[in-house]
Amino acid sequence: MKIVVIHGPNLNLLGTREPAVYGTRSLADLDAEIAAHARARGVEVETFQSNHEGEIVARIHQAAADGAAIVINPGAYTHTSLAIADALRGVAVPAVEVHLSNLHARGPERARSVTAAACRGIVGGFGFASYRLGIDALLAAEADASSS
Ligand code: DQA
Repeated sequence: MKIVVIHGPNLNLLGTREPAVYGTRSLADLDAEIAAHARARGVEVETFQSNHEGEIVARIHQAAADGAAIVINPGAYTHTSLAIADALRGVAVPAVEVHLSNLHARGPERARSVTAAACRGIVGGFGFASYRLGIDALLAAEADASSS
């Protein structure tokens, strides 16, 4: 299985951005952890970060063209982007939405995700582990689908 992990806006600031919420480790640390986890699971992974909605939409299209599943943290676009939700629905590849923080503990404007409904499921609130759990969720869904 091939997986593309997409990080949305401001996640390039991990490590210095609101450390009380997002921790002190960097995006490079996160990507290294994702790569190690994928290696341990025997899956091919690529990571991508963008602060631009259209680039994220294009990366979703590309993932589908490459036959890859998607783990996506849309950042603040989670709460606003019908374009990203439409892209995920449009390509219909297996996708899991992940968040470092627990959106439901961060006030009403963050509790709503417009992109989650276009994904198979959502993992949030576990810091970097949310990404590992997201990859494992995709693998579990794939295993269930192939055994049924
Ligand atoms: C986030 C939560 C979003 O509300 C926020 O805008 C982010 C990060 C998370 O991973 O917890 O940029 O997606």
